[in-house]
Amino acid sequence: MNVDVNLGSRSYRIVVASGAIATIGTRLRELSVGTRTALVSDAAVARLYGKTVTSSLESAGFSVVPIEVPEGEGAKTLAVAQHCWNELIAAGLDRTSTVLALGGGAVGDVAGFAAATYMRGINFVQIPTTVLAQVDASIGGKTAIDHPLAKNMIGAFHQPRLVLVDPAVARTLPEPFASNTYSVYALVSLRTRITGNSLRLPARATARSAVRASRPTAEPGDAARPLVMGLESSAVRSSWVDVIS
Ligand SMILES: NC(=O)c1ccc[n+]([C@@H]2O[C@H](COP(=O)([O-])OP(=O)(O)OC[C@H]3O[C@@H](n4cnc5c(N)ncnc54)[C@H](O)[C@@H]3O)[C@@H](O)[C@H]2O)c1
Repeated sequence: MNVDVNLGSRSYRIVVASGAIATIGTRLRELSVGTRTALVSDAAVARLYGKTVTSSLESAGFSVVPIEVPEGEGAKTLAVAQHCWNELIAAGLDRTSTVLALGGGAVGDVAGFAAATYMRGINFVQIPTTVLAQVDASIGGKTAIDHPLAKNMIGAFHQPRLVLVDPAVARTLPEPFASNTYSVYALVSLRTRITGNSLRLPARATARSAVRASRPTAEPGDAARPLVMGLESSAVRSSWVDVIS
């Protein structure tokens, strides 16, 4: 399934397909970007999927500089952003180069912020690996790091050139990243942020209750809070994988 986000010169495509991460090289080549790339990931995700993504990029003629960032919220600091900038400079990435984020929302946020600010903005590609990141954080161009006084306070809007969603990678997600609230929030977001269609819950997802819940990772100034239903997490997670695969 492809979803085209029409934003004039900043338009981009969201590709949703099982096994998509192995196709990143050819898809990036279609964008006619330069051959230098940096792959930002954390150790856990890099261990699982880094080789597949790197091989695909290298087979398509790209050089790949791996940049490791801490797992989770610890990635979203000025020091980690600076580490990314250091690596980009050392590897000689220029305005035609591409930063790829391989990971959850935290990796996407810091990698996107680095891409938005390096040389006033270079190409950015999201390869989200959590359900939350696949249907929310990777879409819309919001990038940020945290300030010691507040979360997501320092950032920029920087649209990706491509979002590559491979639902199959959700199979390796640990709890709580596939927990009730996250997973159902993700499904609600899928409706509101990608398709615009009404949400049809997969048959295997069993509703337990309907509760109004705060978004687990609320953005400052984000007033909208989705109606989140409590569902069996494993059912939702595997449904997400099954429905899209
Ligand atoms: N920019 C936006 O629009 C936006 C929107 C919502 C949330 N966010 C941000 O997203 C962050 C939360 O993101 P998150 O919930 O994706 O979690 P996360 O990025 O904080 O961490 C996910 C954890 O799961 C691991 N992981 C990721 N994918 C995996 C996989 N496929 N298999 C096994 N392990 C895997 C990672 O190593 C990490 O430890 C917050 O910082 C939030 O502010 C941003």
